[in-house]
Amino acid sequence: MNNRGTEEQAITTPREAEASARPAPELLSVSSSVAAPELPADVLRLSVAPMMDWTDRHCRAFHRVLAPRALLYTEMVHANAVIHGDRDRLLGFDPSEHPVALQLGGSDPAVLAEASRIGAAWGYDEINLNVGCPSDRVQAGRFGACLMREPALVAAAVEAMQAAVAVPVTVKCRLGVDELEDYGVFLAFVDAVAGAGCRRVIVHARKAWLQGLSPKENREIPPLRYDWVHRLKRERPSLVVLINGGLREIDDVEAHLAHVDGAMIGRAAYHEPYRLHRLAVALQQAAPRSRTALLRAYFPYVEAQLSRGVALKHIARHVLGLFHAQPGGRAFRQVLSEGAPRADAGLALLDRALAQAAEREAA
Ligand SMILES: Cc1cc2nc3c(=O)[nH]c(=O)nc-3n(C[C@H](O)[C@H](O)[C@H](O)COP(=O)(O)O)c2cc1C
Repeated sequence: MNNRGTEEQAITTPREAEASARPAPELLSVSSSVAAPELPADVLRLSVAPMMDWTDRHCRAFHRVLAPRALLYTEMVHANAVIHGDRDRLLGFDPSEHPVALQLGGSDPAVLAEASRIGAAWGYDEINLNVGCPSDRVQAGRFGACLMREPALVAAAVEAMQAAVAVPVTVKCRLGVDELEDYGVFLAFVDAVAGAGCRRVIVHARKAWLQGLSPKENREIPPLRYDWVHRLKRERPSLVVLINGGLREIDDVEAHLAHVDGAMIGRAAYHEPYRLHRLAVALQQAAPRSRTALLRAYFPYVEAQLSRGVALKHIARHVLGLFHAQPGGRAFRQVLSEGAPRADAGLALLDRALAQAAEREAA
């Protein structure tokens, strides 16, 4: 359910004022030896993973309501698309999304540097390089997880990207690919990118099989090895290390945070938005709110998008799981699934769905 290209009107919220207050992008050149300031430690404790077709701008705006301090990531955008594509559509985001990172795909250092420069000028707080996606399409383009085999190329890319922007450049990677299942090889990869100026890595704590497994299977079948990520932090304490993969429970995440700097949550955050809120309450001192209050807090954003001509179905799909496992959850979902595709669907539909669910919501 990709809504790209289907919106009647693109949402464009580049931070023009801020961008114009900065030096022209061409002049934004910092030495890779000068590290960009890192985001605050509490922000790094909880992030929502980049997820293609899921973490679009409407989703991120909703997640921001749920988790006021979490670091949010865009879907992966190929560097060439950033340079040549429709930037309003690919890069536009709402100011409420900060802190928000742009995830890039690609492997050509010069192209990635240019795309990073553009992303930073649009106001992204971080530029992240995808070295974890195992899809065939991505491999054919020689980016994503197959780059785990090419640490020198990734290092060159990171160096070029870091030199082009004044925000952190980070890498999201796996533990290895295919037969590469050696902690020393993984460490050498991380050392190579750290040596190029990357101060933070996000590790999806399993390897990927480039042949024979679908991307979905590659998120489930290779075993999780959290101990490798903990060991990385132990052995490279100055590196900021975020752990990702299969995290759901607050207790588990808190246990990981004794070993690493932050936890990145993907599927559990998307399918169970209230879980994301609970994590934000536990890890980032967000004020606890009811499901109903959270959805109502999202209404002004929804209203603004509707008034720009965005169809409700592109927004409502991201909130379907809000009452997951609650007595009214099924009714909530059903009202939205049936009503949102209608051309005249608006806020009243969300109200109706809430009325179905809220009366049974636990206090
Ligand atoms: C639908 C979907 C799309 C994804 N797209 C991306 C992506 O664009 N870039 C990326 O680095 N990882 C992507 N991932 C992987 C997630 O970022 C994350 O690493 C993975 O889901 C493991 O975390 P989890 O177990 O908390 O979901 C995607 C995952 C899903 C489920």
